[in-house]
Amino acid sequence: MKTRIAVLVSGGGTNLQALIDANLQAGEIALVVSSRPGVYALERAYRAGIPSVVIAKKGSTQEAFEEKLRAALEEYRIDLIVLAGFLTILSEDFTRRYPRRILNIHPSLIPAFCGEGYYGLRVHEAALARGVKLTGATVHFVNEIPDGGEIILQKAVEVKDGDTPEILQRRVMEQAEWKLLPQAVELVSEEIRRSR
Ligand code: GRF
Repeated sequence: MKTRIAVLVSGGGTNLQALIDANLQAGEIALVVSSRPGVYALERAYRAGIPSVVIAKKGSTQEAFEEKLRAALEEYRIDLIVLAGFLTILSEDFTRRYPRRILNIHPSLIPAFCGEGYYGLRVHEAALARGVKLTGATVHFVNEIPDGGEIILQKAVEVKDGDTPEILQRRVMEQAEWKLLPQAVELVSEEIRRSR
């Protein structure tokens, strides 16, 4: 049986699209969860015929939000959770329940430019401000420390003269994130499948 995957999103969902397009062998995307209504990632799920639910973070307590999330993961019998541009930090109580079963993609070479406050364009702004010549992306397991779990895969990407945060973000996505995330998800899905 394939590993059943939930992809958690909050925005455009280009990483979700990369996972859909990858035609995973060991895993299948069984559910998409969005923390925001109306985002384009939901449209991508719909077009791919993947069930989706919106569990709004806004106006909800962390406990209530996570309880709804857990109920959805149970209902869809999810084995592996993939955070792909998911903008909500999960509590220690939540992450403890899923050891080595939650993956995140972060758009830098951890431990550079990561942790609380480093998300979206801010990561690339920080890399440019520091003047690094190489940046990249990291897929890691999620534990109670933001961006602190075990690293699964990393890929370096060159920073070029004249880069803006937007240009660099796009290059990191194209050259690293969209390749790395499907690779890591395949690896972990296979591991879970074999451990059954
Ligand atoms: C990506 O840069 C990802 O690394 C970060 O948030 C962004 C999400 O983009 N965590 P998308 O929604 O997958 O297009």
